[in-house]
Amino acid sequence: MTTGTIGIIGGTGPEGRGLATRFARAGLEVILGSRTVERGIEAGREVAAVTGGAVKGGRNLDAATAEIVILTIPYEGLRDTLQPLEAQIGERIVISTIVPMQFKEGRPSMTATQTGSAAEDVQILLPQAQVVGAFQTLAARKLADPGVQLEGDVIVCSDHPSAAREVMELAELIGLRGVNAGPLSNSHYVEGITALLVSVNRIHRKETGIKIVGI
Ligand SMILES: NC(=O)c1ccc[n+]([C@@H]2O[C@H](COP(=O)([O-])OP(=O)(O)OC[C@H]3O[C@@H](n4cnc5c(N)ncnc54)[C@H](OP(=O)(O)O)[C@@H]3O)[C@@H](O)[C@H]2O)c1
Repeated sequence: MTTGTIGIIGGTGPEGRGLATRFARAGLEVILGSRTVERGIEAGREVAAVTGGAVKGGRNLDAATAEIVILTIPYEGLRDTLQPLEAQIGERIVISTIVPMQFKEGRPSMTATQTGSAAEDVQILLPQAQVVGAFQTLAARKLADPGVQLEGDVIVCSDHPSAAREVMELAELIGLRGVNAGPLSNSHYVEGITALLVSVNRIHRKETGIKIVGI
């Protein structure tokens, strides 16, 4: 594992804080980004206090200076958020956790994307970056509770094999198995099954994940 710093764009929300909690406890430095510097700093202080780890916060641009960048913003904010960060992000590994989803009359459904998945849209917006779709199926609340033993697999999709390997190592660092699931376009299915998990969660009042059997 070559990575020491994780930057989280939109890191003030539940998913960003949850991933930050796990990575900080695993010994990585984390920078939580926000559209508002004060919100970022406050979130950084809070996660640092809970984990005792090296967590700080700032603007999304500050998070984009980290070695690996994770996106935890809603799909709707993708273009406006990433366009000003493109030069800073350059060829970095960028992990999309984004599920393009909406609720209609309380029911989850997929939002249409430009390319077929949020992760592929990220690759269009950041053409130089090594984009990886991963961590979509991990529920924020379980990530944020250090008392919960994480379970399930992290499905990893990318057109950049070395980036995919590094993200699988990140998954292992937080106690999960990374499963190489091929090209970035397969993120379409991972994002879709996450929308299904949201429905399952509602019916069973649990936070579920997925596990690939047979390998
Ligand atoms: N929540 C989960 O359990 C979960 C699980 C798996 C995947 N995900 C995915 O992770 C992403 C984040 O989920 P979340 O529940 O943490 O979402 P969220 O709370 O709605 O958003 C996360 C952060 O993104 C920023 N943000 C909100 N709207 C934005 C916009 N229009 N443009 C740019 N930034 C915006 C906000 O930070 P600032 O106001 O500080 O900028 C917010 O705190 C989503 O794409 C979701 O599909 C979530």
